[in-house]
Amino acid sequence: MKIVVLTGSPHKNGTSNTLASEFIRGALEAGHEVLRFDTAFLKIHSCIGCDHCGMNGPCVFDDDMPKILDAILDSDMLVFVTPIYYFGFSAQIKGAIDRFYSRNGQIQRKHLKSAFIATAWNNDNQVMQGIEKHIEILIDYLNLDNAGMILAKGYGYVGASTEKHYMDEAYRLGKSV
Ligand SMILES: Cc1cc2nc3c(=O)[nH]c(=O)nc-3n(C[C@H](O)[C@H](O)[C@H](O)COP(=O)(O)O)c2cc1C
Repeated sequence: MKIVVLTGSPHKNGTSNTLASEFIRGALEAGHEVLRFDTAFLKIHSCIGCDHCGMNGPCVFDDDMPKILDAILDSDMLVFVTPIYYFGFSAQIKGAIDRFYSRNGQIQRKHLKSAFIATAWNNDNQVMQGIEKHIEILIDYLNLDNAGMILAKGYGYVGASTEKHYMDEAYRLGKSV
């Protein structure tokens, strides 16, 4: 498969990017092709809802997003990797997701395979509830065929005691898709 990985953390070597790298290591070993886009380090203007694209056409912003969208539409699988910011996606990756708007129908018709990875500091029962629901609705709306989800609670910094467990899980998920 061609797999597009979208990450959302400004910490290059932080927890979510660590899990992204482990996922990718597994996926490459399984023979897949992987394209990774670190949204925090790319030029991605927020969607301004001007509707110039009509949800199916060129966006008014000529930044890094068109090439990401081209890669997504040429792929078989889309993987979202984010730190939890206030119980949801980070603004960096959410900004990229909002820009799906200009190719919305095309993405829905692709029936892409997907996976989700999120990391959070807290380790309680509610920390992942918001993103879990968001992911569930996003999968349904974008017609994704979800292959797995890693909601890494209590993994707030590199070197945390939970790290090894989640790194293994991310590697295995990459290898199994
Ligand atoms: C703006 C901001 C909001 C955050 N919100 C939450 C939160 O709602 N719940 C939580 O458990 N951790 C929260 N955190 C902590 C991060 O999710 C956590 O440290 C994560 O491991 C960071 O991932 P990274 O190393 O990939 O950047 C927040 C951190 C920041 C900077």
